[in-house]
Amino acid sequence: MIETRDLRKSFRTGRRRSSTTVEAVTGLDLTVAAGEIFGFLGPNGAGKTTTLRMLATLLPPDGGDAVVAGADLRTAPGQVRRSIGYVAQGGGTWDDVTAREELVLQARMFGSSRAEARQRAAEALDAFDLADYADRHCRTYSGGQRRRVDIALGVVHRPTVLFLDEPTSGLDPQSRAHMWDEIRRLRADGMTVFLTTHYLDEADALCDRIAIIDGGRTVAEGTPAELKRQIAGEVVTLEVADHPAKAAEVLAGLECVRSAEVREAGDLRLAVDAGETAMPRIMRALADVGVELATIELHRPTLDDVFLTRTGRSLRES
Ligand SMILES: Nc1ncnc2c1ncn2[C@@H]1O[C@H](COP(=O)(O)OP(=O)(O)O)[C@@H](O)[C@H]1O
Ligand SMILES: [Mg+2]
Repeated sequence: MIETRDLRKSFRTGRRRSSTTVEAVTGLDLTVAAGEIFGFLGPNGAGKTTTLRMLATLLPPDGGDAVVAGADLRTAPGQVRRSIGYVAQGGGTWDDVTAREELVLQARMFGSSRAEARQRAAEALDAFDLADYADRHCRTYSGGQRRRVDIALGVVHRPTVLFLDEPTSGLDPQSRAHMWDEIRRLRADGMTVFLTTHYLDEADALCDRIAIIDGGRTVAEGTPAELKRQIAGEVVTLEVADHPAKAAEVLAGLECVRSAEVREAGDLRLAVDAGETAMPRIMRALADVGVELATIELHRPTLDDVFLTRTGRSLRES
């Protein structure tokens, strides 16, 4: 649904004599499949917004190519625009109009008749839980309500691809959870969603696949689970009631265990390939030799571990 090849953008900033060039996007290759929620995860300044604005035809690339919903970004930007919805980072609603007015206007601009626009606005208001305040000025909405109006505006013309720039930034936890459900529903309706986020948990929980971006280029791409698995594998720690050395010897012999060590406290640390299948085997092996298990825990690498491995920095800190 989206394919980019070597997409680039730089900005010149400052006065002519002291001007510097900011390389915002430095050769981006991405593939987004139809019907997936694709997440673009990276710290502030990584180039997420710049990429989204290029793909939404709002900013001409300096180089490279992209195809969005089957249309070439360079040669058919009008066709791209008709297939997409775009919700900017800061939103796009006015203070002194109502959600219904905004939605009707948006649908009209995408070619709906007056009656159809009213119908679609009403549907969008229902779908995004906005019907109760549809005729109030947007200025009076809470952050979560206003963000829902933004997203409703992005989909009222039924685009094939929806671009969401930081859809949950600044929302409280409940509104974020609500927004995730809305976005999953759009996927269930067949829409392809390309969103940016700097939240690790959002990329992990919401996105089917992600690209981690840093300094204008992708440093990793895959499903959250794949990316985490590429890192260190998974680690099982366990405590046994007695005979830790014997336990380690037995467990080291299992096919699913890469290494087993006894730590100072007498507990064991096992490197495993896939924790969820290794755990029952480990438990059975210990029972077979009569070693009593006290506790067992699975530690999986996080997306922050992935970011750290690829960039040398923690996303949390940056
Ligand atoms: N219009 C602009 N003029 C100059 N620099 C810009 C402009 N837009 C973005 N940048 C710079 O490009 C880099 C990437 O910005 P952006 O795409 O907004 O990152 P993100 O959305 O990941 O936070 C940053 O260093 C930013 O300061
Ligand atoms: Mg941004």
